[in-house]
Amino acid sequence: TWTTEAFVEESIREIRAKVGDKRVLLALSGGVDSSTLAFLLHEAIGDQLTCMFIDQGFMRKGEPERLMEIFDQQFHINVEYVNARDRFLAKLEGVTDPEEKRRIIGHEFIQVFEEESNRLGPFDYLAQGTLYPDVIESADTNVDPKTGERVAVKIKSHHNVGGLPKNLRFKLVEPLRKLFKDEVRKVGRSIGLPEEIVSRHPFPGPGLAIRILGEVTAEKLNILRDADFIVRDEIKKWGMYHDFWQAFAVLLPVRSVGVMGDKRTYAFPVVLRLITSEDGMTADWARPPYDLLEQMSTRIVNEVKGVNRVVYDITSKPPGTIEWE
Ligand code: XMP
Repeated sequence: TWTTEAFVEESIREIRAKVGDKRVLLALSGGVDSSTLAFLLHEAIGDQLTCMFIDQGFMRKGEPERLMEIFDQQFHINVEYVNARDRFLAKLEGVTDPEEKRRIIGHEFIQVFEEESNRLGPFDYLAQGTLYPDVIESADTNVDPKTGERVAVKIKSHHNVGGLPKNLRFKLVEPLRKLFKDEVRKVGRSIGLPEEIVSRHPFPGPGLAIRILGEVTAEKLNILRDADFIVRDEIKKWGMYHDFWQAFAVLLPVRSVGVMGDKRTYAFPVVLRLITSEDGMTADWARPPYDLLEQMSTRIVNEVKGVNRVVYDITSKPPGTIEWE
């Protein structure tokens, strides 16, 4: 029978046998797959592992700092923090189409990844958090006809965008390729990955950039980051974090009239998206207590400058999608 302990032991043996004394590069996103992968590889090969964390500027409030704290300071895993915030923002100037945003972000990610891996390298292997369902559908890797090795043509964490340039070909290490998502979580837990990562809500690769409808600006990122923080802060206070598949805020590109004190306001609305789901393929809008919604609304309007209205999305998937873009 399958046990996490046996899996971890065997994986470590296999990784060591495969990699030998070579260097491995891993694109760390902070999600459960790449984080579990990092812990497993670190356990197996220690400092031969280099993680690259590219900060696109679209993560949730405090997340990049927290990620570095956990990996670098707490667990002493090699992580190169790459601050690419300005680059990504500049590329998105004037862009409003959702798929265009994804394409640009994916493309820029590859650019930064390539530059930084050249700077930090050379590396022999690329570690990927490919899971069993990805292997079944696999169209994003090729088998090198000479060696029989699987080689990367795409980066999994940005599965919906771009491909690695042809000249950037690594051999792959994919120790999670036989696992389902719930097994990854078990493995993560058993090798000491903090619970806040193991059971974190899913978060899209393009991050807040696809939760700001229309053009993404620094100002709007700040507004959304603060509103989104309040959503999560409140559900945690209410002890309801695990009652939702995802719970987040979306910023709309229109303004409406409100009143604050004795002044008329004309500012952006924020949408609350709280949903329940088994797998993200279908989803229901959640029915949280009215008092929780009230608390979020009051805090967002009072604490986040630039927002004067909060609305609740009561659309399930289908026909809606979970994200607004
Ligand atoms: P939708 O909006 O399609 O989302 O109902 C389903 C799940 O996928 C996530 N999602 C993404 N994840 N890159 C990602 O890595 C993306 O571009 C992307 N778009 C949606 C979404 O958060 C939800 O969990």
